[in-house]
Amino acid sequence: AAESRRIVTIDGPAGAGKTTVSRRAAGELGVAYLDTGAMFRALALALGEGGHRLPEATIDARLAAMTFALEGSGADTLLLVDGAPLPDAARTERVGGWASNLAVLPVVRRRLRLAQQALGASTDLLAEGRDMGTVVFPEARHKFFLTASPEVRAGRRVLQLESLGKPADYEAILEAIRHRDAQDQNRAEAPLVAAKDALVIDTSDLTEDAVVARIVAAAAV
Ligand code: DC
Repeated sequence: AAESRRIVTIDGPAGAGKTTVSRRAAGELGVAYLDTGAMFRALALALGEGGHRLPEATIDARLAAMTFALEGSGADTLLLVDGAPLPDAARTERVGGWASNLAVLPVVRRRLRLAQQALGASTDLLAEGRDMGTVVFPEARHKFFLTASPEVRAGRRVLQLESLGKPADYEAILEAIRHRDAQDQNRAEAPLVAAKDALVIDTSDLTEDAVVARIVAAAAV
């Protein structure tokens, strides 16, 4: 059962620095790292643009056939979707937008929630996403909510994309972040919101090291 497992949750908007921080914190805490955004992105990539407009039964069938597994642990944890790691093509803003479109659908949230809970039932983990502390693992021992101003987040996304050798336009990314925030925060099902018992960390003026240290200190007990 989930309550006998050690579960740490990190939620927050796109670009708050969750992914790098979560990976590193999972390494220091010695638990597996689950990137739940990657699960939504994998579905988005499988269905393609406009996937959210497909019949519910088609989306449900695709999800029912999809397998998710975690290999290894800590910062090196690998999420395997249908036996393979997520391709780089899934990391673009474009696919993130498709994932956000799919994420409003109850059928998608239900299937992925069950898959996430199944992973958490068999492994101690640090789960990163939008609704980990509120909906998927409400009984988690330690919950964090990372935020940062949209401008800071857009700037970070630009650096991240550039480091991957991908084109990055600050204004377009800022606009996409604002749009995705609004969609993620205003959807009826599992909207992006801090759990009441989450520690909220504004990372705008903190170094990555400082954020990791804060999380590890609070979650190590
Ligand atoms: O974290 P990310 O940018 O990879 O997530 C992509 C999209 O997936 C995000 O805009 C909303 C959705 N998502 C979600 O609804 N719930 C999660 N737990 C994780 C991601």
